[in-house]
Amino acid sequence: MLGPPGAGKGTQAALLAKAIGIPHVSTGEMLRANVADETELGKQAEEIMAKGDLVPDELVTAMLLERLKESDAVCGYLLDGYPRNPAQAGALEAALGADCIELAIAIEVPEEELISRLLGRSEEQGRADDSEETIKNRLDVYSSETAPLIDYYEGRSALVSVDGHGAVDEVFTRVAKALAE
Ligand code: AP5
Repeated sequence: MLGPPGAGKGTQAALLAKAIGIPHVSTGEMLRANVADETELGKQAEEIMAKGDLVPDELVTAMLLERLKESDAVCGYLLDGYPRNPAQAGALEAALGADCIELAIAIEVPEEELISRLLGRSEEQGRADDSEETIKNRLDVYSSETAPLIDYYEGRSALVSVDGHGAVDEVFTRVAKALAE
């Protein structure tokens, strides 16, 4: 699941993983759990995440590969937030094979809507990286580091783009339709 912060990757991934019966594997959720549990990884990641920068590739990739060894991921997985740059895409392929990503779903939402959703969540849930300044950096990091993956997967004929504007269930209908095509 690809897309900028606030595009609805986590929301749609949770629905889709449930519908298909595969695990929803979110590197952001895993990192936040490490921060909450005050693990060594969490201590290394906390400040980086609060600024909206990317946690070093080798730390995130090692965490993800451990997770994918678990028995529930044997028949497939839905990745949310990984890979986050071409180096991570390469690391995943080196570890799991060139066809480990069957399909990348890119969710597209205009920037004003992204900002409004994240500021809304900031008021409701107070997530540490939903401040105005950090949201701006997260959007910049997405443009420079993650957006090149759109071309990467398009070039491998493994990309579908979905309009992420509108109600959650409307977007989910589009995601499901794109997968069925
Ligand atoms: P991560 O948790 O992946 O955050 P993100 O990419 O910034 O994405 P968000 O969770 O903010 O948005 P989303 O697209 O999932 O949308 P959501 O469904 O939540 O990463 C956090 C940090 O961890 C990174 O900045 C980085 O530091 C680190 N990290 C993670 N992965 C990494 C990696 N691979 N490498 C290095 N570092 C990594 O929805 C957002 C809000 O909008 C919610 O309030 C939701 O209710 C609402 N919403 C959703 N859909 C709709 C809709 N259709 N209409 C209205 N509101 C909606």
